[in-house]
Parts: sequence; structure tokens; C-alpha cells
Amino acid sequence: MSLIEEVMRRQAHERAATGVAASPAGAAARGRPTLTPVPEAAVQQYRPAPVDPDALERSRVLLRVQDVAVSRAYKILRTRVLHRMTENNWSTLGITGTGAGEGKTLTAINLAIALAQDPNAWVFLVDLDLQRPQLGAYLGMSYEYGLTDFLTGQAELEQIVYDIGIKRLAVVPNASPVETSSEHLLSARMADFINALEAQTPRRIVILDMPPIMVSDDVLAFAPRVDSFLLVASQGLTARRTLANAKEVLAELNVLGVVLNRSTERNDSPYY
Ligand SMILES: Nc1ncnc2c1ncn2[C@@H]1O[C@H](COP(=O)(O)OP(=O)(O)OP(=O)(O)O)[C@@H](O)[C@H]1O
Ligand SMILES: [Mg+2]
Repeated sequence: MSLIEEVMRRQAHERAATGVAASPAGAAARGRPTLTPVPEAAVQQYRPAPVDPDALERSRVLLRVQDVAVSRAYKILRTRVLHRMTENNWSTLGITGTGAGEGKTLTAINLAIALAQDPNAWVFLVDLDLQRPQLGAYLGMSYEYGLTDFLTGQAELEQIVYDIGIKRLAVVPNASPVETSSEHLLSARMADFINALEAQTPRRIVILDMPPIMVSDDVLAFAPRVDSFLLVASQGLTARRTLANAKEVLAELNVLGVVLNRSTERNDSPYY
């Protein structure tokens, strides 16, 4: 953990020294999420996709989590993310971490739901783990097309964005894994996809559920297109050696914060 903290401290120091927020080139030129109320008539509708309440419960999705401490932790995370993103005019937030199985997907889902509970925050939740997509399964979603279908030209945008019955939240799942994930991430079709999301009405915060940084080059490949990142680390799982190896990669990312996810303990609550 100390290495991640060190990277964050250094980035904060650099930001203070230059007097500007660390943001990828070109980010300031794009339109951004605001906390301005949006009239209902201006809201884009997406195709409905039912979710399975049992799957939500199994996956520990916030909607079904009765634990007050866990809900509170996500609300604190939501508020901090919202402040940082709006004050810096950022729209995309990548959820990643150093290793597999540390709780990235669950954090992405619960954070997206918590954000959407704010009446002025509109959210896209996107499965960007192209090799091992899991978002749709965690939500128990019934749907036809996913992100890979769009990237391979077999579906259009309106066919892959779904309303799962949570107000202000729209979900882009992924039906089929691909091996050549970093090529897809760098494709013109992917650029079209992100541009199209950012052009939707009302403008939304885009939460990207991503793979771990040490398993493929996906996160690094796509990082220039992502305004900020949250790292998910799991107490007990995130080995110090992995963090040491990740140091150079982490320095390339605009890390907004670290979520410690204690997935092995009974009283698990993520905190920021
Ligand atoms: N806080 C938690 N408490 C209990 N179980 C958890 C917690 N966080 C994650 N899990 C469980 O751990 C497993 C891995 O979580 P998740 O899929 O969110 O991790 P991931 O980092 O996205 O994994 P991958 O690297 O495979 O994408 C899942 O079965 C999930 O339900
Ligand atoms: Mg995952």
C-alpha cells in the first residue's frame, strides 16, 4: 500500500507545484459532467434489461446490501469521487488494481449505483474488461448485445446501452470475451464508443470496470483516454511485491484514490 500512497503523494505534489489538475491532454477540451439538474424531457431513454434479484444478492450488490456500514462507506466514496470529478471537469473513471479478484467489478457496480443515487449525477457503467467480462453476470442481466458486438460492428450503440431499472444509471455489459483486447481498446470503434457516451444527454460520469494492470497492457493502452483512476486493493490479497512491480505503471495513471477492499473478512467494508 505504501507504494500506491507514494505515487498518489507524488502526483498531488506535482499538481500543487504546477497549479493544475493532472489530466490527460485534450481532456479539458471535452464537455463535462455538471451538477446542474436535468429536466426529465431531456433524458435519453435506453432499452430495458431486467436484472435478477438473486444474482444481485449473491454478488453483494449495494441495492441488496442491508449492512449500514457498507452502504455508508460507498456513500462516502461516492461523495469524494463526485467532488473530485466535477471540480476537475473529468467524465471518465477507470476502476482497476494490481491483481485479479480484488473486488474491482463489485466496487465499480456499487460505486455506480451509489453515484446514481445523487439526483444530479447521471452515470454510465461500462464493462471494459474485454478478456473476462463479468458485469452482466454480477447484475444477473438479461440482454442480447454487449460491447464486443459494437466493437466488431455487429451492433449499434443503442443496442448495447441498457436501463436496468435504476434511475440515472445506464449499463453497457459485454457478452463475449475477446483475446485481442488491447487492439480493440485502441480501435477507432472504441474511440467512437467513448465519444458517443460523452455526447449523450444528460452528460454522465462514465465508470469503466477494467482488468488489473499487471495482467495485460489493456489499462496502459487505454489510460490516455481515461481522466482518472480508482485503484482497488484487497487486504491480504495485494502482495507487496506486486505493488513494487506496479510502481512504474501506476506513475502513468492519474490515480484519484485507493479503495481498500477487505474481501476475506466478515465485517468487510471498502473505504477510501
Ligand atoms: N468486500 C467484499 N466482500 C465479500 N466478497 C467480495 C468483496 N469484494 C469482492 N468480493 C468477491 O470476490 C470475488 C472477486 O470480486 P470481483 O470480481 O469484484 O473482483 P475483480 O477485481 O473485478 O476480479 P477480476 O480481476 O477477476 O476482474 C467475487 O466473487 C466477489 O463477489
Ligand atoms: Mg473484474
